[in-house]
Amino acid sequence: MTQDEMKFTVAQTALKYVIKNTIIGVGTGSTANFFIDALSTIKNNIKGAVASSKETAQRLENHGIKVFDLNKIEAISTYIDGADESDNDLNLIKGGGGALTREKIVAAVAHQFICIADESKLVSIMGSFPLPIEVIPMAVNYVKNQIIQKIGGIPEVRKDFITDNGNFILDIKDLKITNPKAMETKLNSIIGVVTNGLFANRGANVLLLGTPNGVKVITT
Ligand code: 5RP
Repeated sequence: MTQDEMKFTVAQTALKYVIKNTIIGVGTGSTANFFIDALSTIKNNIKGAVASSKETAQRLENHGIKVFDLNKIEAISTYIDGADESDNDLNLIKGGGGALTREKIVAAVAHQFICIADESKLVSIMGSFPLPIEVIPMAVNYVKNQIIQKIGGIPEVRKDFITDNGNFILDIKDLKITNPKAMETKLNSIIGVVTNGLFANRGANVLLLGTPNGVKVITT
């Protein structure tokens, strides 16, 4: 089974977690795109969706799925999104596509977070995937130096990339994340950081992992 076939299968499986007549949250990336395509087949069962990026909003609308402004709704039942890495406790690294801030906001509002990924994303210790940090442009050099002094790893500005919120991304390479919750909190305390790609204080509730033998369900 190819990686895309595994992504397709977990996206189909995620439909079971969509609650009828509610507004759901939808993530960003190639796995989330498979989910949006799958969602279009049951679009009449939901009120609509909140998108975690402009790209996702466009894809939802292209499928005729209503996109809601988060400030105009009461609740999000379920958030469905991919990840760059997950550990066995369902702490995640996200933001490979640069949508981490909006993803974190939607995940915070949602009652449950279903993460969909192929098996290559499950790791015992996170950090092989460079950890994305969204930073206010004028603070980039300051944040970079603070990371070198207080966190470790090698922060690099993502080339030719501006987030949907008009900010830069620093990707921190060579980290070994042994305490994801503490690191998430520490990174958030650096002035100029908008968000970091660790989803640990609000991790996933369920991980649907695509494997060649089918979908493995991991819960917290
Ligand atoms: C985007 C994300 C994505 O969920 C993450 O990068 C995984 O993407 P893909 O499904 O393409 O592997 O966090 O900001």
